[in-house]
Amino acid sequence: LRQMIPRRTSDPPHVFHWIPFVGSAIEYGTNPVPFFTKNKEKYGDVFTFTMLGREITAALGAKGNNFVLGGKSLDFNAEDAYTHFTTPVFGTDVIYDVPNSIFMQQKKFIKVALSTEKFRAYVGMIEEEVEDFIASDPAFAATQKKSDEWGSFDVVDVMQEITILTASRTLQGKEIRAALDKSFAGLYNDLDGGFTPINFLFPKLPLPSYRKRDAANRKMTEFYTEILRKKLAAGDPDETDVMVSLAEQRYKDGSSLKEHEIAHLMIALLMAGQHTSSATGSWVLLHIARSPDIAQALYDEQVKHFGSPDGQLRDMTYDELRELPVLDSVIRETLRLHPPIHSLMRKVREPVVVPPSLSAPRSKSHQDSVYVVPKGNFVLASPSVSQLDPAVWVNPDAWEPRRWWVSGGAAASAKAAETGDGEVVDYGYGAVSKGTESPYQPFGAGRHRCIGEQFAYLQLGTIIVTMIRNLELKLPHEVPEHNYHTMIIMPKHPRQIQYRRRRAV
Ligand code: HEM
Repeated sequence: LRQMIPRRTSDPPHVFHWIPFVGSAIEYGTNPVPFFTKNKEKYGDVFTFTMLGREITAALGAKGNNFVLGGKSLDFNAEDAYTHFTTPVFGTDVIYDVPNSIFMQQKKFIKVALSTEKFRAYVGMIEEEVEDFIASDPAFAATQKKSDEWGSFDVVDVMQEITILTASRTLQGKEIRAALDKSFAGLYNDLDGGFTPINFLFPKLPLPSYRKRDAANRKMTEFYTEILRKKLAAGDPDETDVMVSLAEQRYKDGSSLKEHEIAHLMIALLMAGQHTSSATGSWVLLHIARSPDIAQALYDEQVKHFGSPDGQLRDMTYDELRELPVLDSVIRETLRLHPPIHSLMRKVREPVVVPPSLSAPRSKSHQDSVYVVPKGNFVLASPSVSQLDPAVWVNPDAWEPRRWWVSGGAAASAKAAETGDGEVVDYGYGAVSKGTESPYQPFGAGRHRCIGEQFAYLQLGTIIVTMIRNLELKLPHEVPEHNYHTMIIMPKHPRQIQYRRRRAV
């Protein structure tokens, strides 16, 4: 019916759909990138589609990213788009449950709390967790003693475990890490059960999982609050502790964060990093297992930087870890091909004119018009589209870490990182900046840009090289396709990686 109501000529073109209300939900939800590409060809970079009663205006490509993420005004509003989904999980009075001016202060507090000093302490902790995991987890038990034997593990299961173990040992603090072996794991699972696309699309369903989510948030809040009180009462706070750093900071009006705000920020950090990092780590391991030359280049990089005369690899430091071009490129390229978040959304508070350079109307009825995105619509930018744009990237669908270390910031180390055939190829990287008009945006851009990027690189980098130091990996089939039915893009089955313990280091 909606399609029969005449639209204003200033409305962006609308994607045709058969079923009212549902609109393009199934096509978008099942495989968003072909959906976007097909409609981009038809309508240009800006078009609107219906998804379960919501009107969503996609603005694609680097210019679309800039349009959605770059503006200074709050007419494109993040909290209106996300709060119904995030607040029940994170808790009240933080992130999207507060006006943006408060959240921006909270974001600064988190930035201060995630200091380089802490990161230096975290590398060893992560390494230890991964080594303990490989030594004791049932997934690796079968090959414990026989070093020649190949075993296999489900990469997503393993990366989810390792990610939460390492994040809780570092960011979340030792008390949470200890509790993870007991009650905290169950609470985490209940909370996570409320962080799904169903929750995003239908926030008010009377499902048991919603009640579990709410109960888990309450119990976790109590748990964090108790830990915080003990830490502050002890008077000798651990310098690597994020919660204590948060407690030391002040809002502009001089007030400090309340206990429940600190607890809720800690929950938000846990949830923001868990699926994004475990998905990225899974994709990295799948690609490495499928690309023996890159796996070898990664290992050689370890030997070159950390090898010692006795044949052992010495421990890494945070500062050294940041200077490894192969490792850096492997993560960077994986985030290009598999950005965990494919759609960034904002709700439109006031009508916004689309810049003519972006709208380029295709259809006759739109020829003379300037598009205006109506109030009440959502706008959407998609890193997945700009990161695969053939106008920007050479061979965009190929996982090719060399495109970064050959022509990117790590160019000086390109020779050292060659994989043996001496070939140095320019895979096209060009003007990829961190700005809002960049085609490369796995961490978003502008005022809502991710603050977890450095931690994610530290965590992922340490996990990956610790695994590469200890294991040889193999994948007997192609890297799996994307599963878009999860909140964060995950690999479909089969996703078993074969491994063998590395003998001499
Ligand atoms: C925001 C991606 C890890 C905390 C974002 C955004 C993206 C993103 C795309 C922008 C969302 C938007 O504009 O709507 C990622 C990826 C990660 C990662 C790909 C790992 C590979 C982390 C970690 C943390 C974190 C580890 C916490 C320690 C945040 C926070 C925001 C954010 C607090 C700000 C949200 C806002 O300002 O609205 N992240 N993230 N992220 N991320 Fe991450």
